[in-house]
Amino acid sequence: MADDELLRLESIYKSFGRVNVLDNINFQIGKQEIVALVGDNGAGKSTIIKIITGVHRPTSGTIYYKGKDVTKNHSVKRSRQIGIETVYQERALADLQTMWRNMFAGRELTDRFGFIKIRKQRQETERMLRTHIGFTSKALTVDVEVATLSGGEKQGVAIGRALYFNADLIILDEPTMGLSLTETKRLLDFVVDIKEKGKSVIFISHNIYHVYSVSDRFIILDRGKIAGEYAKKDITHAELENKMVLLHKTGRIR
Ligand SMILES: Nc1ncnc2c1ncn2[C@@H]1O[C@H](COP(=O)(O)OP(=O)(O)OP(=O)(O)O)[C@@H](O)[C@H]1O
Ligand SMILES: [Mg+2]
Repeated sequence: MADDELLRLESIYKSFGRVNVLDNINFQIGKQEIVALVGDNGAGKSTIIKIITGVHRPTSGTIYYKGKDVTKNHSVKRSRQIGIETVYQERALADLQTMWRNMFAGRELTDRFGFIKIRKQRQETERMLRTHIGFTSKALTVDVEVATLSGGEKQGVAIGRALYFNADLIILDEPTMGLSLTETKRLLDFVVDIKEKGKSVIFISHNIYHVYSVSDRFIILDRGKIAGEYAKKDITHAELENKMVLLHKTGRIR
């Protein structure tokens, strides 16, 4: 394993019944690196993410995290414990709860009797809002119901939560979907910020402008296979876009 490696997928295959969805996927994610996964609808991007986060078990293949083979007992819970967090646009947070409850959903701070430490959770949520996200708005308090937040704010809270729990790998699957221009700009700033904090990001988006502006490397998926992989220094925005169009039209990348 290279010193700067955080995650590596080796020969990952995934089938649902008789449908092969992932066909020999191999790639690695470096420490403090932003890697984009791009490709058409149904290419297999979200399935790869679900394998990394333990939602799905690969049909075969190996997942290495920080140099260790974690394939065997991988699960959603395990992946969070070892420092992998995912932020989805839609299901980023549970709507009918206050921010302070959401922040600790599934990993509540409890006392020795198993009761939730409400005061502590509120304080910590407050701290997360101010330090990790830089929310200064007076309207945005820990008691606000998540349903009233804008899409961008929800996204920000979900990222803040990931940082609070000290994730090393933060996965963003279509994070800019449905966001306004300013919210998108803010989200992209968050992504760069995550990297500056020494962490790694897997970024999935259909918007090549967004992808290109923040990522260090691009992995192009096509019908379950990796069709190409490029460092940003080796490819211009226009070239990347052309490859995507070509792939869509001809099924080939050159
Ligand atoms: N649980 C499942 N059962 C059966 N087929 C599935 C399942 N999950 C995904 N698939 C299939 O696997 C393929 C890849 O899906 P996936 O969601 O990974 O694509 P994607 O690249 O994320 O696409 P999009 O850009 O539209 O989100 C699709 O053909 C999809 O129908
Ligand atoms: Mg998807």
